[in-house]
Amino acid sequence: MGHLAGSGGGGRSFFRELGRQGCYRAGMWRRLQGQYGLDFPLIHGDAEAIGYPEASFDFAISEYGACLWVDPERWLPESARLLCPGGQLVFLTNSFLITLCMPTEDEMAATERLLRPAFGMYRVEWPGSPGVEFHLSHGDWIRVLRRSGFEVEDLIEVRPAVGATSSYPFVSVE
Ligand SMILES: C[S@@+](CC[C@H](N)C(=O)[O-])C[C@H]1O[C@@H](n2cnc3c(N)ncnc32)[C@H](O)[C@@H]1O
Repeated sequence: MGHLAGSGGGGRSFFRELGRQGCYRAGMWRRLQGQYGLDFPLIHGDAEAIGYPEASFDFAISEYGACLWVDPERWLPESARLLCPGGQLVFLTNSFLITLCMPTEDEMAATERLLRPAFGMYRVEWPGSPGVEFHLSHGDWIRVLRRSGFEVEDLIEVRPAVGATSSYPFVSVE
């Protein structure tokens, strides 16, 4: 499944490596499975309707996948359904702040100014792009997570290390 992976445990470096390589091609998943000696089925499907019975997985992860491109009112209840009691969901997406400060022009980095309203942001479309993104305030994330059956254990604001560089035009390290 593209952005939801069940793991029996011991897969920490595997997922760190997945994040580092930003890999979303099935071939790369297969190569990493070999590299880390893990073997589990890979299925390709929509995160809002995965063809597995409830309580099929111990762990779910989305890194700029479902958590960015799928309506949280749909993928979060589906993730909760698929996870065993006590299972964990980890996801990484753009910060609320960067989305508030992102110009609509392509290739322009986020500014220091708030360019859109902080209240009510949810579904976001960018001119000239066919994609639909979902960006929620922290409070809205907490509410939809809890409605879907999750407890929130942590919210980590990722801070770039000294000397880090950006490979995306819409974000500068400053
Ligand atoms: C920027 S890539 C992130 C890939 C991710 N980090 C990974 O390791 O697989 C965005 C991914 O979101 C996936 N995606 C978009 N809509 C989706 C949906 N409705 N269900 C599942 N995946 C979706 C795309 O297929 C693409 O692979």
